[in-house]
Amino acid sequence: MDAKIHIEQLRQQINEFNRQYYLEDNPTVPDAEYDRLFRELKQLEEEHPDLLVADSPTQRVGAAPLEKFQQSKHLQAMLSLDNLFNFQDLQAFCKRILDRLKQDIAIEFVCEPKMDGIAVNLLYENGLLKTAATRGDGATGEDITQNIKTIQAIPLKLQGKNHPQRIEIRGEVYIPLAGFDAINKQAREHGTKEFANPRNAAAGSLRQLDSSITAQRKLTIFTYGIGFCSDENFAQTHAQILDHLKSWGMPVCPEIKVESDINGCETFYQNILNKRATLPYEIDGVVIKVNDLKLQQQLGFVARAPRFATAYKFPAQEEMTLLEDVEFQVGRTGALTPVARLQPVHVGGVTVSNATLHNMDEIERKDVRIGDTVIVRRAGDVIPEVVSVVMQKRPPNAKQITMPAQCPVCQSEVFRAESEAVTRCTAGLYCKAQRKEALKHFASRKALDVDGLGDKIIEQAVDLDLVHDPADLYAVTLQQWAGMDRMAEKSAQNVLDALQASKETTLPRFLFSLGIREVGETTAHNLAQHFRNLDALMQADHDALIAVDDVGVVVAENILHFFAEPHNRNVIDKLIAQGVHWPVIEAPSAESQPLAGKNFVLTGTMSTMGRDEAKAKLIGLGAKVSGSVSKNTDYLVAGEKAGSKLKKAQELGVKVIDEDALVNLLSVYVSV
Ligand code: IVH
Repeated sequence: MDAKIHIEQLRQQINEFNRQYYLEDNPTVPDAEYDRLFRELKQLEEEHPDLLVADSPTQRVGAAPLEKFQQSKHLQAMLSLDNLFNFQDLQAFCKRILDRLKQDIAIEFVCEPKMDGIAVNLLYENGLLKTAATRGDGATGEDITQNIKTIQAIPLKLQGKNHPQRIEIRGEVYIPLAGFDAINKQAREHGTKEFANPRNAAAGSLRQLDSSITAQRKLTIFTYGIGFCSDENFAQTHAQILDHLKSWGMPVCPEIKVESDINGCETFYQNILNKRATLPYEIDGVVIKVNDLKLQQQLGFVARAPRFATAYKFPAQEEMTLLEDVEFQVGRTGALTPVARLQPVHVGGVTVSNATLHNMDEIERKDVRIGDTVIVRRAGDVIPEVVSVVMQKRPPNAKQITMPAQCPVCQSEVFRAESEAVTRCTAGLYCKAQRKEALKHFASRKALDVDGLGDKIIEQAVDLDLVHDPADLYAVTLQQWAGMDRMAEKSAQNVLDALQASKETTLPRFLFSLGIREVGETTAHNLAQHFRNLDALMQADHDALIAVDDVGVVVAENILHFFAEPHNRNVIDKLIAQGVHWPVIEAPSAESQPLAGKNFVLTGTMSTMGRDEAKAKLIGLGAKVSGSVSKNTDYLVAGEKAGSKLKKAQELGVKVIDEDALVNLLSVYVSV
């Protein structure tokens, strides 16, 4: 074949694969095939240097590192946005617009997620990417063309026809959360500094003089507007601009919506705020823009921000505050967790006065000291954490944090295994902190499910020295329960009834309730199915244990260790003597296990039945239910608001079914 035609075909094919992969999230060929075509093209271009063109996919990488960035002047200034934080401000924004226009008309707005990344300006001439620059001071930025070319989602050549001869396309380069985690994992492995957030990671990756480093980072882009455009009349509305961008192959955020008034904008804001935790990228608010470009022009600008657009920010997720002290909390397994006591600060919509410091390695890595000013982060429902120290504000007397030599609760010795990042109190159930947590676990919903026996009551029962182990719970009398704070005769009777009812349980629940380290609900279930009675499990040796699904060397050791402890055996005997019992587990038959060998993953919110219930039913039918999607997954059940797992399943070509389909499937075998 003619080399010229062959090269052209390869380029077209590679560009098409890029488009499927980066724009549609729908790769159609394996990576190996893509790489093969890419190498073939590269070789042909080497053999025919005269056929090389600037927009060939091979030209994305391989440029020599720069000494420094050149300056690049934008054809039209890159402005910033004013911020607002609540609905009242939004009403005021709208009123200012109407006042300025001196007419009372309905105004349409485009609502867009505010991407938390780095603004860039992409200049296309005759459809080809000419230069790319950072925002800089708004008038002039840094020329980062080489780095931008490594971002596969950005077309080197615009698709379609009819693009303006010269156009600046504006957008936000960002790192999806998965890519961010990967960079930081690598940094940890190499002992280099981690990035504090995806925005910093994007900025750090984009401002590399050596574009081969940028190429390794999973950067991508959403475009959201234009700057200079040689064709002044190519769109009447902002929504039309976005449609053009899409038709040229530029990524545009799929969440963007046109709303007919500010109430619609408010709903958009609330909806996207709720959805935020499931999005695969970081956003820090919503950008609201007047849709009609004529109105935009009439409204114009103040200082460096347009009057026709605004940022409606989410409550800040990071704030600065003072680290007043560090205390160590003792968890169920005895782990001592350092907890920061902070000067209270408003962050992520709530007041935070405690934050986790994870463990001593983290403290060392972040070099946190008492007296430091620290950055606290609270994202969604996760536990607030100390992200980093503001070193400029460190006082001379900042105090090093040290692990106590004794348990702060029971004064027993603490121990840190060489292979572990955590230090533990060695006292087991003798330590009141561990005992409280063990009892809470024992009574919890997925364990023996003692309804009405709340955390506060358990804590009192331990403080009053009424219970030393879970079996003692069954010996506490009505009077003793009733004598506790916030308890009356009626609630005490409820606790007694719930304890009585909890005696009728199942072997998986019982095993889970014992709180053996790393034996979660699924492992407990697998152990129960495998051994079918408690004695067989207690007599199992290492080899017998690792034969069980999901049980590895570490879990097997934990189980052996647990049952070797006379104290634990004694508690089990006492529980059985108190009347705790469970039905015999029948050997599974093929009919009772119709889903044997099938792997399920559940994600999103389910309305007919909860996720736990669905999981239990699937396991009951022999299926395996795991937490993450892999190529071994047979079905992903996607409920409402399914997020990254759904995306992954689609990427891997895993079969996705919705909740109705699951209910149908289950109803063939069991009542749902
Ligand atoms: S429009 C004149 N739309 O926010 C208006 N900006 O605070 C220019 N940003 O520098 C910006 N997502 O880096 C616009 N959908 C979006 C955005 C967005 C993120 C960033 C951008 C800009 C900053 C302004």
